[in-house]
Amino acid sequence: MADLKQSVLETIGRTPVIRINRMAPKGVNLFAKVESFNPLSSVKDRLALGVIEAAEASGDLQPGQTVVEATSGNTGIGLAMVCAAKGYPFVCVMAESFSVERRRIMRFLGAKVVLTPAAQKGSGMINKAKELAAEHGWFLTRQFENEANADTHSRTTAVEILEAFEGERLDYWVTGYGTGGTLKGVGRVLRKERPETRIILCEPDNAQLVSSGVEQERFDDGSPAASHPSFSPHPMQGWTPDFIPKLTEDALGLSLADKVLPVNGRDALAASLNLARQEGIFAGISSGATLAGALQVCATAEPGSNILCMLPDTGERYMSTPLFEGIPADMDDAELEISRSTPNYRFD
Ligand SMILES: Cc1ncc(COP(=O)(O)O)c(C=O)c1O
Repeated sequence: MADLKQSVLETIGRTPVIRINRMAPKGVNLFAKVESFNPLSSVKDRLALGVIEAAEASGDLQPGQTVVEATSGNTGIGLAMVCAAKGYPFVCVMAESFSVERRRIMRFLGAKVVLTPAAQKGSGMINKAKELAAEHGWFLTRQFENEANADTHSRTTAVEILEAFEGERLDYWVTGYGTGGTLKGVGRVLRKERPETRIILCEPDNAQLVSSGVEQERFDDGSPAASHPSFSPHPMQGWTPDFIPKLTEDALGLSLADKVLPVNGRDALAASLNLARQEGIFAGISSGATLAGALQVCATAEPGSNILCMLPDTGERYMSTPLFEGIPADMDDAELEISRSTPNYRFD
């Protein structure tokens, strides 16, 4: 039967669940859902399609209307793709602290990228996006509060996980949160369909917003009214902004997290590197962080447990970040020695 995709948007989702072989301890089965298989290489492609199609269906987004969103990058890249494919102009508002690759990818996809000062953190970029939407009549996708974000994960990510583990146990599902869309959307389906699955929510050990128990101040629309006092900057781009998003709070209210696990930034970077070198899976920093959390779960899980962790994006997006700090562009001593081990085509 012919299988001709009518647009790139039909390639979003259906990402593989892959066994982690060499990094996992013996006696348990560790798996990863590898979201870099999405067309623009992150879990956020799902959200982008979900929120745009929900807004088209409700009439909130009109043909040709400009779409605007505040994002640390992956949502912006996903929205830039979806808007390009569907013909909407897109403006991304982004704090200057996020990686340069992300800005350039969005601009390559035809988006406008408006930067906000790092000192004003995640809430600064959100307020700027709101201002722009109000001033110009643009459609603000509101990824941190938009139910369509969680719904898309219930309809796609969760269903794919259930299919992957059909006839198998799923003892633990491990995730972080950026908006909480993955947590709320997948979590509520697992609770219903797999009540035995324990849901482990990871957050940075130096930004333990959820475990602090301190409530997030919000405006009436659910958006953050202030930075959370437990926030401090961490290397896991895309994880834990400087506030507890509404969708994350909803998920906690529904008791969708059985345990909250702190993850250290250095452990996250090391796990990402080891994942590449020991498993051949090239994933980003938040993926390393989720994997580091999953390895903590493995250490105490009952023998025979099946553990699934989310790997939200590709490592290629982090070349200008600490993830690549120890990765030189020039030949090191060992490489020079290999070069000198034969007589020709050398630099000396
Ligand atoms: C790199 C990365 N990891 C993890 C996440 C978390 O996903 P979610 O927004 O569904 O909580 C995001 C998105 O915010 C992300 O960009």
